[in-house]
Amino acid sequence: MAVDLLLGLQWGDEGKGKIVDVLTKNYDIIARFQGGPNAGHTLEFDGIKHVLHTIPSGIFHKNVMNIVGNGVVIDPVIFKKELDALKKFKLDIKSILLISRKAHLILPTHRLLDAASEASKGKAKIGSTLKGIGPTYMDKTGRNGMRIGDLEMKDWKKKYRSLANKHESMIGFYNVNVQYDLKELEDDFFAAVEELIELTFIDSEEYLYQAQKEGKKILAEGAQGSLLDIDFGTYPYVTSSNTTAAGACTGLGIAPSQIGEVKGIFKAYTTRVGSGSFPTELFDADGETMGRVGNEFGATTGRSRRCGWLDLVALKYAVQINGVTELNMMKGDVLSGFKKLKICTAYKYRGETISHLPYNIEKENITPIYTEMEGWNEDLTKMSEVDQLPKALMTYIDFLEKELEVPIKIVSVGPDRTQTIFRNS
Ligand code: IMP
Repeated sequence: MAVDLLLGLQWGDEGKGKIVDVLTKNYDIIARFQGGPNAGHTLEFDGIKHVLHTIPSGIFHKNVMNIVGNGVVIDPVIFKKELDALKKFKLDIKSILLISRKAHLILPTHRLLDAASEASKGKAKIGSTLKGIGPTYMDKTGRNGMRIGDLEMKDWKKKYRSLANKHESMIGFYNVNVQYDLKELEDDFFAAVEELIELTFIDSEEYLYQAQKEGKKILAEGAQGSLLDIDFGTYPYVTSSNTTAAGACTGLGIAPSQIGEVKGIFKAYTTRVGSGSFPTELFDADGETMGRVGNEFGATTGRSRRCGWLDLVALKYAVQINGVTELNMMKGDVLSGFKKLKICTAYKYRGETISHLPYNIEKENITPIYTEMEGWNEDLTKMSEVDQLPKALMTYIDFLEKELEVPIKIVSVGPDRTQTIFRNS
């Protein structure tokens, strides 16, 4: 049985958590393949709003296994907080959540290194969530990291100490003022590890291989978005993992030949949090309205997100890199009330008109070229059928489908599980 993928196509925060939750009823296994607690996947149902950071978004469903794959980086302290927040749901976590032994651990000193690195960059800072993501992946590729499986070894604290000591001396090299009490951070860390080791650790690539052989349906859940991919994103203002389709193969041990549907999620407009270029960014009342109506604040850091028109050049690029087979459009409801809508269909790039994403999309190189479309006034949030959607929205959708050459199968009209319209075309 093929493994389906679900990925963000913009700069993250597209609404992956909601859609995974909606689609979980069709799957036996939900598996996260990259990123870590920098992610904030928001789910709303039965009047409850829940934010997950590392735990897969299928966790609230019965008879579904949730896997944290080898490509994920885990901070035991944040993981423990996530587990604590789930306690009221009375889930049998030990039997529905499995963690790859090959997933890497975020140490308290990784977070400190992240802070030191960002502080040393001054104005050029990445705008990291400061969860230690970059330094942890650096240790992974530098072959120095600690993995979940290490916690099953007797001498793991020795390994921890030696790595943490090395990090402390590295913090010194940055020559910036980072205040910390390592003893306090480590007390929290060791207490959280005690809880983590009570969970089930597995060789997840083997588990997933057997599951595929048994015909189980698997959905691989991405985090962040394609434009934050370490290779294909807007480098260096990216995260430190492969957020694109290829990341699901390396982050779970899934063979490329086993990939089935690639579900790409995008917002009907664009947002970005943190630094980095954003050609269609708005600094006017329209951008302010998108942010306010769309409640565009980071689920992990609370930072307000930058907002702008839909960038079809960037979206096409993401569809191409990922081999997207079906699209889900989120937050069309936020655009209700705009008289005119703009979609960026090409860039003026160094005097030329281009329709692909070039190497350098800094402001001084790019002027977006827009197509203007009619807006709609209707409140979409109570709609549940395609037939109810306003004509202008259908024209917007038709235009995108034609340009992207991929069908839009889901139109989300609000944050709740129930505010989801399925299209067959
Ligand atoms: P880091 O991965 O926390 O180091 O952050 C690197 C960049 O990716 C920053 O611009 C962050 O704001 C952005 N980023 C990281 N995770 C997310 C996410 O889940 N949603 C949106 N942006 C993110």
